[in-house]
Amino acid sequence: VSVSVASSGGNATSPYAYGLMFEDINNSGDGGVYAELIQNRAFQGDSVFPKNLDFWNPLGGAKLSLQNLSTPLSHALPTSMQVAAGNSSNSSSTIGFSNVGFWGFPIVEGWEYKGSFWVYGGLDGNVTICLTSDQDEEYVEASVEVSSSSEWMQYNYTFTPSTSAPNSNNTLNFTFAASDLSGSVNFNLLSLFPPTYNDRPNGNRVDLMEAMAGLYPSFFRMPGGNNIEGLLPPYWWNWTTTTGPLEDRPGFPGTWGYENTNGLGLIEYLLWSQDLGMEPILAVWSGLWLNGTTVPEDELQTYVNSALDEIEFCMGDASTTWGAKREALGYGPFQINFVEVGNEDSLNGGAPTYSAYRFNAFFDAITAAYPNMTIIGSFYDIDGATPPFNASGDFHEYAIPVQMSSQFGFFDNYTSAHPLLLGEYAVIEYDQPNTTEPTWTVGSPRAYFPFWYGSVAEAIFLLGAERNSDKIIGASYAPSFQNLNRWEWIPDLIEYDAYPGHTTLSTSYYMIQLLSGTRITENLPMTITEGGFNPSYFVAGRSDVTGAHIAKFAVYNSTGSVPFEFTFAGVSSGATGNLTYLTAPMNASNPVAGNLVTKHEQTVTAGSNGTFTFALPEYSVAVLEISAT
Ligand code: AHR
Repeated sequence: VSVSVASSGGNATSPYAYGLMFEDINNSGDGGVYAELIQNRAFQGDSVFPKNLDFWNPLGGAKLSLQNLSTPLSHALPTSMQVAAGNSSNSSSTIGFSNVGFWGFPIVEGWEYKGSFWVYGGLDGNVTICLTSDQDEEYVEASVEVSSSSEWMQYNYTFTPSTSAPNSNNTLNFTFAASDLSGSVNFNLLSLFPPTYNDRPNGNRVDLMEAMAGLYPSFFRMPGGNNIEGLLPPYWWNWTTTTGPLEDRPGFPGTWGYENTNGLGLIEYLLWSQDLGMEPILAVWSGLWLNGTTVPEDELQTYVNSALDEIEFCMGDASTTWGAKREALGYGPFQINFVEVGNEDSLNGGAPTYSAYRFNAFFDAITAAYPNMTIIGSFYDIDGATPPFNASGDFHEYAIPVQMSSQFGFFDNYTSAHPLLLGEYAVIEYDQPNTTEPTWTVGSPRAYFPFWYGSVAEAIFLLGAERNSDKIIGASYAPSFQNLNRWEWIPDLIEYDAYPGHTTLSTSYYMIQLLSGTRITENLPMTITEGGFNPSYFVAGRSDVTGAHIAKFAVYNSTGSVPFEFTFAGVSSGATGNLTYLTAPMNASNPVAGNLVTKHEQTVTAGSNGTFTFALPEYSVAVLEISAT
């Protein structure tokens, strides 16, 4: 393949080309990025997921029960766990309860854990809190003296293990002497955090945040995905119930089969954006539930107002109603430049009301208040008149490799008048040899983890986006995380469980890391003088940050390595470039905690007429970077 790259005539690229999408799916919020270690810490529930004592076990014959006391901890958390001595307890017994965590607890030498719990009722004495293995080894403990009280009291504890446990088969035990009990005692909002990213209270898990930072993400689409929609009325991701002290957050029946604590709330999402230097793309609820119910036109204004309040809460100053409430929580304004109205409103029967009145109502109200805001319609398709109205759109693509790899030119004829966010994409299943339909359909089998030739197919799709970056805002893989103990959607970008040593970066992770890590800020026109696209795909341009010329490549199902001759106008003979390319066995998925993707690096020097000559193997993804001389 021979290519000459011009020195001008291209387009400025989007500064947001690569980003992250996050929603609480696969226990990736609670039990994932959100670092809380106690599962079912506040006995939250509703008509979808009734309150229960799951993940708690009695110790020493204690009797545990759920109670709605006349003096609740808070309006939002009315149900607590009552602990009484059981029939088998006697006055010299030690009784209590334990939590199994999110499928175990990590115990890491030197980590400072911080915990707290609320108590109400008749208990005078020491409560011991201990991280214990399933072999009854006690790793670390703290002791807290509590007193009987007629109001709810909060107690804090900390501990730092001096030894690491070999796995996460550990529980957190709370015990006390049965003789210290007068009747019964009630506990609520029991919490334990390991160290968090940037030391944030109520913060995020360090290794998963570091993994995300390693992708150099520029935007953050949140909080959904389907999880913003809610399963059915009256539940939706109502941001007002996700802010303020944890005692004031009732939780929410997430759309992915489990109750969300809402400990990971709006402020936490904004801090997460800030911590990783990402532009927030805030999704507001659009009046569509996942079961297809939509808010009638004459009731919609309440939700439009809620979206306006939400934006004001994020970015208003202290003179505004909602900005003042945020300031009162101790946070300055968070700038919002992108708002997405809903999620996949063209699905689940949402389209008719979205185009008839819902999108317009949100669009008109938000642009009237914030004329410079980019509003993104959550329309799924780029066919016909979409994205709707005078807006940007969100295009999602879940595909098999044959389909994804054919989409290099997919956006070539799209308009630059309504730039698209590629808010979700993934190769989701291997090519099926006997299929006549080269598309993935909902309900078909899925690959467990991303696999290499799928990741290369995704790279082709991404290079197609880079080549059209005047039309594409940026792209984010979805979903971001799989909890290996509980998930409903595979494959995912990063896998993990409670044991930090199991965190796994997928083949697609390494592909994105390479493409995102070297940004072209100005695409440059290419003249292909020999060969062409398929089986190799490429884009070229320049970085106005480093002054480097850059070309990016994906080589798909060639019959061997592909030779390239690349010349860049203005780059002369003797110039050197760094060629970095990734390879892996075609079908390889990364094993837990492992990596089968090999990074190759070589220096290439321009020959007599300024031509860089090199070859790339089949199923590779590459970046050539020529530093400014
Ligand atoms: O990424 C998983 C799901 O796929 C998202 O929640 C939804 O937007 C899409 O259908």
